[in-house]
Amino acid sequence: MRKARQFVATISCAAIGSLLLGACATTPMTGTAAPVTAAPASDRTAVPVTQAQPDWARSNPEMNTFISDLMAQMTLKEKIGQLTLLTSNWESTGPTMRDSYKEDIRSGRVGGIFNAYTAAYTAELQRLAVDETRLKIPLLFGYDVIHGHRTIFPISLGEAASWDLAAIEQAARLSAVEASAEGIHWTFSPMVDIARDPRWGRISEGAGEDVHLGSKIAAARVRGYQGDDLAATDTVVATAKHFAAYGAAQAGRDYHTVDISERTLRDVYLPPFKAAVDAGVGSFMTSFNEVDGIPASGSRYLLTDILRDQWGFDGFVVTDYTSINEMVPHGYSKDLKQSGEQALNAGVDMDMQGAVYMDHLAQSVSEGKVDQAAIDRAVRRILEMKYRLGLFEAPYRYSNVERQEATIYRPDILEAARDVARKSMVLLKNEGGALPLASTAQSIAVIGPLADSKEDMIGSWSAAGDRSTRPVTILQGIRERAASGVNIGYAKGASYAYGDAGKDDGFAEALALAQKSDVIIAAMGEKWDMTGEAASRTSLDLPGNQQALLERLVATGKPVILVMLSGRPNSIGWADENVPAILHAWYPGTMGGHAVADVLFGDYNPSGKLPVTFPRNVGQVPIHYDMKNTGRPIELGADNAKYVSRYLNTPNTPLYRFGHGLSYTSFGYSPATLSTASMTAGGSLTASATITNTGKVAGEEVVQLYVRDLVGSVTRPVQELKGFEKVTLAPGESRTVTFTLRPEDLAFTRADMSHGWEPGEFQLWIAPVSGAAASVPVGFTITE
Ligand code: NOJ
Repeated sequence: MRKARQFVATISCAAIGSLLLGACATTPMTGTAAPVTAAPASDRTAVPVTQAQPDWARSNPEMNTFISDLMAQMTLKEKIGQLTLLTSNWESTGPTMRDSYKEDIRSGRVGGIFNAYTAAYTAELQRLAVDETRLKIPLLFGYDVIHGHRTIFPISLGEAASWDLAAIEQAARLSAVEASAEGIHWTFSPMVDIARDPRWGRISEGAGEDVHLGSKIAAARVRGYQGDDLAATDTVVATAKHFAAYGAAQAGRDYHTVDISERTLRDVYLPPFKAAVDAGVGSFMTSFNEVDGIPASGSRYLLTDILRDQWGFDGFVVTDYTSINEMVPHGYSKDLKQSGEQALNAGVDMDMQGAVYMDHLAQSVSEGKVDQAAIDRAVRRILEMKYRLGLFEAPYRYSNVERQEATIYRPDILEAARDVARKSMVLLKNEGGALPLASTAQSIAVIGPLADSKEDMIGSWSAAGDRSTRPVTILQGIRERAASGVNIGYAKGASYAYGDAGKDDGFAEALALAQKSDVIIAAMGEKWDMTGEAASRTSLDLPGNQQALLERLVATGKPVILVMLSGRPNSIGWADENVPAILHAWYPGTMGGHAVADVLFGDYNPSGKLPVTFPRNVGQVPIHYDMKNTGRPIELGADNAKYVSRYLNTPNTPLYRFGHGLSYTSFGYSPATLSTASMTAGGSLTASATITNTGKVAGEEVVQLYVRDLVGSVTRPVQELKGFEKVTLAPGESRTVTFTLRPEDLAFTRADMSHGWEPGEFQLWIAPVSGAAASVPVGFTITE
């Protein structure tokens, strides 16, 4: 048993070089060992954390001179213009406050435009800035390229289920290639919000519940969008959003209050943002929510103390849509003028769509409420980004009609989308080898509201995605894949509309088809816009009358395969008990129907694993694998004990655990072994296990490393993911997977709010899924 005090004086800043927050805040980061003590609250944010500067941010004296000269010519109004981002009239996710955006561009009152794309349209708008404004400063074009631009990849949560960082990076890369060919310079992606509440519709937009997986994916996506060279015309500036803790909205209701501990903020919600900074992300977007009573867009703590001073972020900060304005209804600002002052003084560089800076900032400067120097700093950051993108030299360099035509829907991009889609699918259940479909099946019934629905295939936040013609539906995919002579029937059968819950209009047709078929593919789930922004639900059940139809289909006695399309974990306990096979296909994108068919027919062996826990019912929420043990945990086998931490009517365990996902083959895991059972500061250990494909077909397995810190100065989660590796194995083949762990990989925010590890005892699992029972743990210690 250790005491919190034991470690305090011994851990050096050098030893915790990758620390997240504050641990070395009282000591300059010189790289020399210095004692860490608990930083008083006022000092915690004082000193930047050393980190490598991204290539694009390297100092450029020529650029500095150019921008200084330009700024010397700019009026205050023109400077404020550079801090203003307006939407075109193409699309929006909130009130359109400025219909006169073209006039605003001409008069130099706008620095960037979003929701405008195509080479022709961006060139048309660019011309207004370059030909008609006094200083000819080019516009920056931003857009929500979230999981593909024209070619839509699986929703972000689905991509995360692939646990395939190379594939995820490539999806972002190709999205950037398509988007930049249509004149876009900057994407509002990746969304790196940790999400642990499936009621929250935006869970679909991120990488799920886990800090480690989320951080790795954040970095992969930033690398994908920005490539090696931000100035290349086929890369775009990435945005880490929504800063911060947006995913912790109370009760899963979008835009709702966030009230979490400082420790949870640091240990759970901030690390993926820090990973994005370390990967060189060019911009940050603030979130709509408040954190501890302060709206994120007015939080100096988040935007300056953490982001700039501690993390050394070099890019620019944009708000979310009108979130400066929203500080008034939040009750943080008495009027818009004050909200603009609070935002700018907190560290917001660019006002998205609110026109608050545009309308009020000049007056705030004249009243001395905002320093001219603060405005200059923000303007410089934005001009620097335009310069680094090469826009001053060649404002139209991204808007090239020939490139656009040669790029969008390129066959290799479509093929990559299909590949990521099949990698993203998670086989939740497969009893008796119900999948892949037997070649003996001569008639297949494809039933359900999602079976032949093009608009649903691409999910939400597929802004420029074609929802009506391009997407390949599940029915289409199956028809194209099935052997000639196999009879494929289709019936919609049910509806996912909330209002249709008690109806059975289409049941008779679906049941008649089912009766005469050898196997039923039930494609069910949620309509595409039931997740995404402003799409929270208080139920995780199948909406509409789908559940009733599913029960009737199962009652026919024919084998039923449930293919789920959804952007969140659903509580499908009945299906888990009664349907032999369930494939969670998320919203798989433009090529989704082909990808589903690839998996159903066994052309691709599923390898996805859940990046988020599936609860049995909504009452278990929040439920995630890395919860705390409590003082009264349920002992194994004592599920009915009284006075333990449990429900009377539902087990504590989820329906499907984080990390769960089956394959058409099986894998055996040897016991984990360690290179050493003890490590000290500056040391490391390796943990290995041999994985064997014990089945009959080749397959991929995501091997997962979990650790538990048994006793801490604050209580520690029952497990934390610390590594993973996806391996491909032929039947009978074995591979030894080795992970390296260093003490700093086990760091957290300690009792004194410093960041670092503590000596003591740990358990380690190498397993196919989270949960203490998934494999036998081995112990190790860290000594001082
Ligand atoms: C609001 C959303 O919260 C954000 O994610 C998005 O990037 C902006 N609108 C711009 O469309």
